[in-house]
Amino acid sequence: MFKPFFSRCALLAAGCLASLAAFAAPPNVVILATGGTIAGAGAEATNSATYQAAKVPVDKLIAGVPELAKVANVRGEQVFQIASESFTNEHLLTLGKRVSALAKQADVDGIVITHGTDTLEETAYFLNLVIKTDKPIVLVGSMRPGTAMSADGMLNLYNAVSAAAAGDARGKGVLVTMNDELNSGRDVSKMINIQTAAFKSPWGPLGMIVEGKNYWFRLPAKRHTANSEFDIDKIETLPTVGIAYGHGNVAATAYQALAAGGAKAIIHAGTGNGSVARNVVPALRELRGQGVHIVRSSHVNAGGFVLRNAEQPDDQYDWVVAHDLNPQKARILASVALTKTQDSKELQRIFWEY
Ligand code: DGL
Repeated sequence: MFKPFFSRCALLAAGCLASLAAFAAPPNVVILATGGTIAGAGAEATNSATYQAAKVPVDKLIAGVPELAKVANVRGEQVFQIASESFTNEHLLTLGKRVSALAKQADVDGIVITHGTDTLEETAYFLNLVIKTDKPIVLVGSMRPGTAMSADGMLNLYNAVSAAAAGDARGKGVLVTMNDELNSGRDVSKMINIQTAAFKSPWGPLGMIVEGKNYWFRLPAKRHTANSEFDIDKIETLPTVGIAYGHGNVAATAYQALAAGGAKAIIHAGTGNGSVARNVVPALRELRGQGVHIVRSSHVNAGGFVLRNAEQPDDQYDWVVAHDLNPQKARILASVALTKTQDSKELQRIFWEY
């Protein structure tokens, strides 16, 4: 007699909880706007490549996608209004400190950053290294301004807010949502500059986002965010690191000029496996002797992979290799790593782990 009664109570309680869950407050997502094409405007709808970046304010971006309100409580902050090729280390620090402060707030469930696509991959990797949180942080841009036919910004922004609001995006590191893909901020790079499918990760995306739902296929393998040894709140300046491009008929001039300009490390954007022309080696060894770190990376397009002591005797020269990081990401990691250590063996450990 008692069993049916209790069963009915349990069912009633479950029903009430389910109803409450359905009316649970939606997640709170903050959109930090920095500029770029996603905030761009062109004269005609046919102008998909001729336009001015960094024109549309964040509140107008949000108003342009009313469907965001079905996904989360969204509010915006205009951190910068610039084209991303003009990002400096100071911009990275200012943005990073704002992201860190918001991530600490109990009333913030996720953060979206709208950004120009030119250096989006650098900012995404930087935040992946220094923000101590497992809350979703999602960067998003667009390849066409909102004034153009078949503009991609609205859906990219909707996807970014959906991902930032989704609990299953927690703990996956900084993400980039472009062209319906969920990419790791570490791996993704702008591979072509005239298509909406511009961003690719050499080892593949983490997943897809379709109609606001995340579909995951893999997880990041490298250290990031909450599991990183770096903390934006303990970084006040980023050491200068330069990049010199390797090519046929190359001279040592650019490397020497970067060092003279104060670079604490030089990323060699090498051909193939980070190869160094024989006429440049002596100059790089001399710079190493003066205390400048040399990091060998590769400028191949679809994904470099530089190993120690393969193309060059890195142990003998005391050089570092960038593993699979492209030159612009190697610059970010070298600068962050140099805030903690000058030891080349420690630098190499950091390049293997991040
Ligand atoms: N100037 C470029 C930038 O702000 C525009 C490209 C874009 O955002 O897609 O990165």
